[in-house]
This record gives sequence, C-alpha cells and structure tokens, in this order.
Amino acid sequence: MLDINAVRAQFPALAREVGGRKAAFLDGPGGTQTPEAVLKAMRDYLVNCNANCGGDFVTSQESDLCIEQARQATADLLGAESRNIAFGANMTTLNYSLSRALARDLRRGDEIVITHLDHDANICPWRALEEQGIIVKMVPFTRPQCQLQLDVMESLITPRTRVVAFGMAANAVGTVNDAAKMIAMAKAVGAITVVDAVHYVPHFPVDVRLMGVDFLLCSAYKFFGPHVGILYGRDDAFSGLRAYRIRGQLNEPPHAIETGTLNHEGIAGVTAAVDFIASLGDGEGNRRERVIKGMKAIDRWERPLADRLMEGIASLAPVQLYGPPAEAPRCPTVSFTVAGKTPQEICARLGEKGFFLWSGNFAACNVIEQLGLEDQGGLIRAGFAPYNTTEEIDSLLHAISELV
Ligand SMILES: Cc1ncc(COP(=O)(O)O)c(C=O)c1O
Repeated sequence: MLDINAVRAQFPALAREVGGRKAAFLDGPGGTQTPEAVLKAMRDYLVNCNANCGGDFVTSQESDLCIEQARQATADLLGAESRNIAFGANMTTLNYSLSRALARDLRRGDEIVITHLDHDANICPWRALEEQGIIVKMVPFTRPQCQLQLDVMESLITPRTRVVAFGMAANAVGTVNDAAKMIAMAKAVGAITVVDAVHYVPHFPVDVRLMGVDFLLCSAYKFFGPHVGILYGRDDAFSGLRAYRIRGQLNEPPHAIETGTLNHEGIAGVTAAVDFIASLGDGEGNRRERVIKGMKAIDRWERPLADRLMEGIASLAPVQLYGPPAEAPRCPTVSFTVAGKTPQEICARLGEKGFFLWSGNFAACNVIEQLGLEDQGGLIRAGFAPYNTTEEIDSLLHAISELV
C-alpha cells in the first residue's frame, strides 16, 4: 500500500486551501499535480544547461543528454526503446502531425475507423482527412455504460481500412477499452493502429510491445509531469512515416516528427515524473520493473477510492452515474449528473467548498452528444490520483448530498 502521507508531502500544491480547508484535487483527468522532484528537474535544467541542441559546447551537450535521458525514461514507462519515443507540444498537436504524415500515403476512398467514445484529439485529426476523400467510420457505444460495441466495429473494418485509431480509456467516463481485441481486428486487414493512451497511462502499466501497437500517444501532465506530449512509434511504423519537417531537421525517427525546438525544461521534468512513478513501487529492480510496480501501487490505491465514490453516489436518488460498472474494466474516473441542476452549478458550489471537479464535455464532445447531455451542460467528473484520500471522498459525498 502507498504511504499516503509520504506521497502527499511530495506535492507542494496540496497545501492549497479554499475557505480555510484543504483543497481536494479531484481534477486529475484534466491534469495531475506535480511533485517537488519534477519542479526541481525543470528548474535545474533552466539554471544549469539551458541551451539549444546540437551545439559544440557543454550546456548544449547536456541538453542533448537531458532529452536522451527523457526518451529512455519514457521508454521505461511504456515498455519501449528510447529510439521509439518522440516529444511534442501535447498529444493533440502530435496526433495532428501523425495523421497528416500518414495521410500522405492514403488515397481517396481509403477508410479510417475511430470511435464515438474518444476525446476530440483522436477524432478531429482523422475527420480532417475527409477533406481529401478519406472515409471516416465511427464505432458506437452502449448507454449509459459507455462500452464500445465491438461487434459493430468488426463490421466497420474492411479491406479498405488503412488506420484504426482509438482511445485506450475514455476520459469522459473512464471506460477501459479492449485494446488487444481492437488491435487484432485492425491487424487482420493490415491497418495501422494508433492508440490514444492519455487517460490510461496515469493509472496502469503499459507494454507497447506486448500490445503490438504501431503508434501510441500520451501526455506527461496527466501523470505528474509538465505539459509535454509523447508519441511512441514502433520501429517499422516510425521509419516509414513521412512527417512534414523543415530543412536541417533530422529525417529519421524519432526526430522527424519533432518539429521545431522542444520544451527542454518540460522534457527534463518528464524523466522526474517517470522516476516518481517508479518510486511508488518497492524499490527493487530496474526502472522498467519499478515503474510497473509503481503503476500497480497507484491502481491499488485509486480503485477503492473510485469504488467508494460510485457506491456513495449510487445511493443518492437524484444522481445518475454514467460509464461502466465498478467490476468492468475502468479507470478511477467517476462521471455523473444531478437531476434539476447543471454540472456547472454543482461544480461551482463544490469548488467554493474546495472540491476541484470538472464539468462539461472534457473535449469528448461525441460522448456528451451521444449521451444526449449537450443541452444539460454535460457531465460532472471526479478523477483520482495517488494523492487523493478516503477522507476526501467521504467529505465530497457529504457535500454532494447537501446539494441534492
Ligand atoms: C483521452 C485524452 N486524449 C487526448 C487528450 C489531449 O491531450 P493534450 O492535452 O496533451 O493535447 C486528452 C486531454 O484531456 C485526453 O484526456
């Protein structure tokens, strides 16, 4: 079990108070808080080796090293090699670059399969290709459990399917999708697979090689790091990619897709964020092994918190839960509505009491549309991180029951 006091002590932001009481940061799916070690790594970079890359002087060489170390740390997070890891501004920007690069090899009438359960960052970059005659098909999901209809997906995939792009977990409602099955379906027709793992990576170990995925994206600010996007590319998939780039930019993976100067200080923080996750395990083994143990410790801590909140909410009559049941594969992300009140009203009132929860569509516009919640202001969402506590859940439940 995590030593919750020791974990919390590493996050200076948790000292924040609202109206004289400690804030409860339940906004993890929108971005987690940052441990001291990540802040220090970013500061150290800017103080000691702030320079552009590829120069013949020490601070530039140290910058090269810093980025290389972050590729290795991220590879340890995802089960890859450092040459498979590219950085960018954020997941959305990287996914646009990826979709445009892949589209250079697509023809009018080629098909792409995506899902209604996804964040817009994995919908709009693909739908943009409709302008060049690409056909985009969308996998539906059940309501209100929000589980993808994989039998329908099977019928949407055809020999013309070139790309299958889907979220590993749904940020709006917490569903964990059956990535293995979906990748197998894509591979059966030789399609390229792209997985948006932004909402999954903060909660569970990932092994890209085991998954056999071509490309996988995530975002460091969702797992205790700074605002840096990450793209994993399998060797063959990455080397065939014809990314748009400027002259002088290395035309080889992972550099070809890294347009412009990277966020060096943020990337320094990525290494520290991965090390923070690794520190939550039992301290044994290499970093990859420690990361896996750390992620398992995170899951063991977060899951009971989510279960407790779902159970408590289910007993409040005017509250409707959305998303998979507790026993289904899911993230510790709990979404709901309260009859007669908008999510914005509820979150504003909770915010005044120091509970930080998101309301709205969380940029998962299709999910909210499909659930028919657009006109009611979407959903209320609480998400968990390993610094959240049982006491926070109990006082949140109390606060919600007062509001309803
Ligand atoms: C599931 C999912 N995909 C993609 C994104 C977009 O990530 P970024 O903010 O790094 O562009 C988010 C952000 O919330 C997300 O939750």
